Amino acid sequence: MPTIHVIDADGAEHVLEGDVKASLMENLCDHDLPLDADCGGSCACATCHVLVDPDWAARLATPSLDEQALLEEEASYQPGRSRLSCQIDFRAELDGLRVTLLPRR
Ligand code: FES
Repeated sequence: MPTIHVIDADGAEHVLEGDVKASLMENLCDHDLPLDADCGGSCACATCHVLVDPDWAARLATPSLDEQALLEEEASYQPGRSRLSCQIDFRAELDGLRVTLLPRR
């Protein structure tokens, strides 16, 4: 199974077995990692904001205009790294993906 490497807000690393039928947000929530995802994946809240490692960020599809607009409103926005995890479909080609969680609001 493809893996997802997650650094939590305290710096601890978690290695998840990723479900390729789910979004990155759903994978994180299914493993009880601290992520709110208040809108349930509708690209409307930005509480699923994560930072993608630079090596991986370029391999992901470009954010939609709606996603980009939400991200740019975030105080913790980092150009080139910030993504809404609900907008990333996890798939086998992303085996080894590394993301960092932000402190909860
Ligand atoms: S869960 Fe709300 S924008 Fe991702």
